[in-house]
Amino acid sequence: MYRIKRKFTNNQQVLFVSFYAYLLYSFFVYLEAVLDKCFRWLDRPVKRIFQKDQRYYYGPFNADESAAHNLYKNLRKPQKFFKKIAYGQFVPLPQLIKLSRPTPKDFKISAEARDILDRFKQDGIVILPGYFPEYAKHIMAKYQIDPCKVDFSSQGQGKKIALNSYDAETIKVLADPLIIQIFSGVYGCQPFVREVPVIAMVRPYETQPRTRQMPQNERPGTVGWHYDTANMLSVGILLNDISKEDTRMQIAKKARRKHRVKLTDRFYSDEIIEEHFEIVDCYGPAGTVYLFDPNAPHRRYEVKDSCRVSIYTSYTPGNDIKTLVFPDEKEQRLDISAKDLAHFSDLQKNVFKYITIGNNEFKSQTPSEKQFSAASV
Ligand SMILES: [Fe+2]
Repeated sequence: MYRIKRKFTNNQQVLFVSFYAYLLYSFFVYLEAVLDKCFRWLDRPVKRIFQKDQRYYYGPFNADESAAHNLYKNLRKPQKFFKKIAYGQFVPLPQLIKLSRPTPKDFKISAEARDILDRFKQDGIVILPGYFPEYAKHIMAKYQIDPCKVDFSSQGQGKKIALNSYDAETIKVLADPLIIQIFSGVYGCQPFVREVPVIAMVRPYETQPRTRQMPQNERPGTVGWHYDTANMLSVGILLNDISKEDTRMQIAKKARRKHRVKLTDRFYSDEIIEEHFEIVDCYGPAGTVYLFDPNAPHRRYEVKDSCRVSIYTSYTPGNDIKTLVFPDEKEQRLDISAKDLAHFSDLQKNVFKYITIGNNEFKSQTPSEKQFSAASV
């Protein structure tokens, strides 16, 4: 791997897989800085045009679904859009100038994966009920998690455990053939694990109110309708049984075609979501998996005393990989041994390419626990 260290801002990619990638990113960042300098003053007047109606826009809930405003935001902040093109999304590019990697030669999509892939492309969310029941049991036993004894959490908060210490079952789950075939099919290239999976535990004190009744002077975090970075596909795994009345993730259906970019707005009101989208509730028995595009609006809906324990991770074609963006954070690396990879296909082996960077110097012995707020849904 060709590595160059360069820090543009606090949250920029600082390791590059090739000199070409470095040049491309430098250009995107430069372009965005120039556009910022020249046109930042225009953001607020433009926003006001699209967000007049106080029935929909109030407090921190000021994101809109206007196609014209979205076009403005993409022109004003084109880096994410260009990145998507550079990774071979939107338009086919010759491999020579693409940052993504082709799928291995023997790659085939099974009939089962094809069917789910078609649904995913349409809806941006697919739920596979009870897909990993044994894995759910294994993690709950390994970390001795009892949903009835999880600490109470206040709105949007919770506890997370990074799954970066060695676990052969987690490695199999991350390389699950069905899931990575679907993601390869969506991207049209090799997907990579973007981040160490985390167990997220919540047991809310209160059922969350409608956005109109939420505090209007603070950002709601993960319980507010929001979207995350474009060109990323996520996986949620429920570790305990969740019904439609429990704490659960909700996501807007058929919302992934739009490329959403944030300027100053990120959170939607209930009114905007209900008017524009059909909402899908992500629930099911322990082991249920949901695959979703987090650039579609989604949130965690919290129900009083309803504990949800879940795992969250995501995949990209190579962009926004956490080990590259935060190369100094050792807990972003996954502990894998060569024998785990021996029985995998090339497509499966490749998904770990970035998550193990620098692994030789890092062997995690104990899982790291943290309070979390907005990091996972
Ligand atoms: Fe999110």
